[in-house]
Amino acid sequence: MSASILDGVMLAGKVRESVAADVKSWVERGYRAPKLQVILVGENPASSAYVGAKTRACEDVGIESDTLILPDTISEIELTEVIGDFNRDEATDGILVQLPIPAHITPLSVIEAIDYRKDVDGFHPMNVGRMSVGQPCFRPCTPAGIIEMLRHYSIPTKGKHAVVVGASNIVGSPAAILLSRENTTGKATTTICHKFTKDLTKHTISADILIVAVGQPGLVTGQMVKEGVVVIDVGITRVADHTTERGYRLTGDCDFDSVSEKASWITPVPGGVGPMTVAMLMKNTLLAAKKSIYPR
Ligand code: GUN
Repeated sequence: MSASILDGVMLAGKVRESVAADVKSWVERGYRAPKLQVILVGENPASSAYVGAKTRACEDVGIESDTLILPDTISEIELTEVIGDFNRDEATDGILVQLPIPAHITPLSVIEAIDYRKDVDGFHPMNVGRMSVGQPCFRPCTPAGIIEMLRHYSIPTKGKHAVVVGASNIVGSPAAILLSRENTTGKATTTICHKFTKDLTKHTISADILIVAVGQPGLVTGQMVKEGVVVIDVGITRVADHTTERGYRLTGDCDFDSVSEKASWITPVPGGVGPMTVAMLMKNTLLAAKKSIYPR
């Protein structure tokens, strides 16, 4: 089998078009444009690039955005105070702190400082908890983008074995929660693998849907998957490559050539999950502005 491509660029474009149309009609009804506040701590080049992609997407769909760049020496208390100001600001609908943040700051303390009604990343325990019990919430953007891809390409999840490699709060854990919920985009049997998993292949080989979100180029090879598997590669690592102008290329967690020989569907890197994450952030920011999830 040779895999078909799950085209994240095309699908993200559709999602963004639909958000842009909704923003336009929201503004035509007399409301102000939605506003996303991005907070970037320090100068991690990859984080700066992701934030750039997010703010360009905002501009593209008619969402206002502002990026506050803070020094990596900022204390946790100072950072939570900055967040508090945005929580109280009526003109700010969504707040996003780009991760990772410097090691002296506890990510969950910062995330909990964000008003859950403005938590467009869906990382606040209130949103994670509500997602776990199937209540309306902000869903984290990458898992929500993965679910949207499976839905768009009519890939069934009901009764399938979904194996998630990587147990992060950002991707792996919420992806497994969403896939196991009893709704139309869930009903899968889920396995979460992580760094303590003893025999990774034992699990990946039985996956009907394999989601890999580790950040380790080439971790999953063709020998580790079964014929017909649907592969979602969330990894996006910069690997030095002096034949390119930038001096690096982006590489997923799967060995694309060998895995795509066996898979029925596969996401490319780049151009798979990444654009979907950004598109779902646009959707969440619009929901926040409309107070659709938490009316008040
Ligand atoms: N770092 C990697 N992915 C994400 C994301 O979806 N949101 C934020 N805030 N930081 C990230």
